[in-house]
Amino acid sequence: MVRISPSLLSANFLHLEKDIQMMEECGVNIFHMDVMDGSFVPNISYGPMILKAVDSISKVPMDTHLMIREPNRYFEVFAQYNVEYLTIHQEASLHLERDIARIKELGMKAGVALNPATSPETLRYVIRDLDLVLVMSVNPGFGGQKFISSQLEKIKEIKDMIRRYHSNAIVEIDGGIGLNNLAAVIDAGADMIVSGSSLFKGSFRDNYSKFMDIVNGR
Ligand code: DX5
Ligand code: ZN
Repeated sequence: MVRISPSLLSANFLHLEKDIQMMEECGVNIFHMDVMDGSFVPNISYGPMILKAVDSISKVPMDTHLMIREPNRYFEVFAQYNVEYLTIHQEASLHLERDIARIKELGMKAGVALNPATSPETLRYVIRDLDLVLVMSVNPGFGGQKFISSQLEKIKEIKDMIRRYHSNAIVEIDGGIGLNNLAAVIDAGADMIVSGSSLFKGSFRDNYSKFMDIVNGR
């Protein structure tokens, strides 16, 4: 079953608790948390304080996407909260194999994200260790950007690699996903789909139910 992971980056931080309750009522079962450091990516978003706050009011697990340099410095911090997946960028990790092992040692599932220009080949020697591969379909840093369609082929390549190496990893896609391309990313093989601006623009309830209609129809 394909999972939809709404990105809280597009929620209203003036009433985050209300948005969280609304998502729970809609049946959302994972929250995508975008942590940005203003150095690996141009933007600064939020950090552990917000995960702590979310954790204190919701049992929904978090799908945490670290867009930060030297992510290993923060693994213990994020492990304190209800983080199901902790995803780091291939481009930001100096010792990827060690970082993946450490995330799992701390009791979280380990994910690695690839920027649009990064090849799946960079994951060949760790693919069996991974629980998730995150394909970035925009250059990370901001919500509301245009989907880069070359990443559909990358999803297929990674699915193929997962099969060849008998890995249990799932594939997640993040950036520019809306009703216009949701079916295409599912058909390419995405198991988990992040969406921010398309879900939160207008009525979240209506948008989420349209998303679920497409998911259920595939
Ligand atoms: C971008 C973030 C995304 C972002 C997606 O750097 O990783 O998770 O919130 O937002 P949309 O769906 O608006 O592209
Ligand atoms: Zn993200």
